Amino acid sequence: MAKKQVKKSWAEPFKIKVVEPIKMTTKSEREKAAKEAGYNTFLLKSEDVYIDLLTDSGTNAMSDYQWAGMMIGDEAYAGSKNFYYLWDNVKKYYGMPYFVPTHQGRAAEHMVSKIMIKPGDYIPGNMYFTTTRVHQELAGATFVDVIVDQAHDPANTYAWKGNIDLKKMAKLVKEVGAKKIPYVSMAGPVNMAGGQPFSMKNLKDVYEFCKKHKIKLWFDATRACENAYFIKEKEKGYKTKSVEQILKEMCSYFDGLWVSAKKDLLVNIGGIIATKNKKVYEEARNMVVVYEGLHTYGGLAGRDMEAMARGMEEMVEYDNIHLRVGQVEYCGHQLEKYGVPIVKPIGGHAIFLDAKKFLSHLPQDQFPAQTLAAEIYIDSGVRAMERGIASAGRDPETGDHRYPKLELVRLTFPRRVYTQAHIDVMVESIASVYARRKKIKGLKMVYEPKYLRFFQCKFERL
Ligand code: F0G
Repeated sequence: MAKKQVKKSWAEPFKIKVVEPIKMTTKSEREKAAKEAGYNTFLLKSEDVYIDLLTDSGTNAMSDYQWAGMMIGDEAYAGSKNFYYLWDNVKKYYGMPYFVPTHQGRAAEHMVSKIMIKPGDYIPGNMYFTTTRVHQELAGATFVDVIVDQAHDPANTYAWKGNIDLKKMAKLVKEVGAKKIPYVSMAGPVNMAGGQPFSMKNLKDVYEFCKKHKIKLWFDATRACENAYFIKEKEKGYKTKSVEQILKEMCSYFDGLWVSAKKDLLVNIGGIIATKNKKVYEEARNMVVVYEGLHTYGGLAGRDMEAMARGMEEMVEYDNIHLRVGQVEYCGHQLEKYGVPIVKPIGGHAIFLDAKKFLSHLPQDQFPAQTLAAEIYIDSGVRAMERGIASAGRDPETGDHRYPKLELVRLTFPRRVYTQAHIDVMVESIASVYARRKKIKGLKMVYEPKYLRFFQCKFERL
């Protein structure tokens, strides 16, 4: 009995071979850096950051197997052997016959949107993602959020907050007609909802619905392996299936997918369009030449494609994903011990602090999440990201801010980069900011670019 209880810890399924030293800064240095960055963590110099949880995008540590692959990059302009190896792995892991590489996810989103959308169309999706929606809108569509209501409530512990609400889908079809809906844009796990997965049951229902109404179903498979992991852990009937098998089954319900390889694939750059549809493939293959480069490199070096192909083999390994989700869970449970309000259930790639609750004295137009991210940086050099009113941008019709229900700060975990000790330091910093939260003042926006404003906007303290 006692023996069983002792063996409950787990650790990284690797040992560390190369290290990158990080600079330690003082609080007054960080005050200055934050002010210069307009209190926008995107505008900080990475050198001034201690633990960088801005994003899990392109911030991964590659394995020795991937680095070894970088040495056999075939840098031919056309027909690189790394491209063909990557294509084989796209078929093997995503089960899609056709493939076009892109330099990163939003390039894929751009092309898929341009190919699939006609001006005046509607794109339903399980909550917006910033770059996804902007490309859908630039192609002339209106994005319609059809995620389940639970996803908009940070305290709701429903396991499948990434699910699509079919009643919302049916309502949209009734209002605008299926002909105006070229495809459903389904992501899993849902980044902006807190890394929340959809269930296989929901995906099958969405698939049947789309089939009935002759609407295509496209997948933002950027973190699909995490979604597969949650299905394995939580959904009945999947315990004995491998992540690889679950991923393949998920993909089988989609007409096509795009991927930001900078996440699941454990690389620093790259993107994918993959589809079952030959016509769409041919259009994408032609378009990529205009925007990215020849269809056998899509804006990437041969060595990048080799690292992606090898990363794909590692992304489905259970121990890798267990480490990843396990770290996020550990962090969340530690924060809960201090009473810090977080989005629940704990998601796949990040902990999301509920800034509305954390800084409940600040109205949303004083940017509580932006303020909190800046405060955490100044406290300890930990860099997080706003996911609230600044990220939501303006309504193209009214020009007013969009006021999202979720006003969050995202602490995103790069893959295989930080240890449990880093997490402990970060948790203590956030707990100390939480203890003095009542004294924190909000921000006002003083500079705002037109597109994806959160990346470059600037603020001043009120
Ligand atoms: N889709 C999802 C779900 C994403 O999270 C991202 C990027 C993209 C598409 C776009 O891919 O960056 O390669 O162009 N997310 C990053 C993040 C930026 O921090 O969440 P990209």
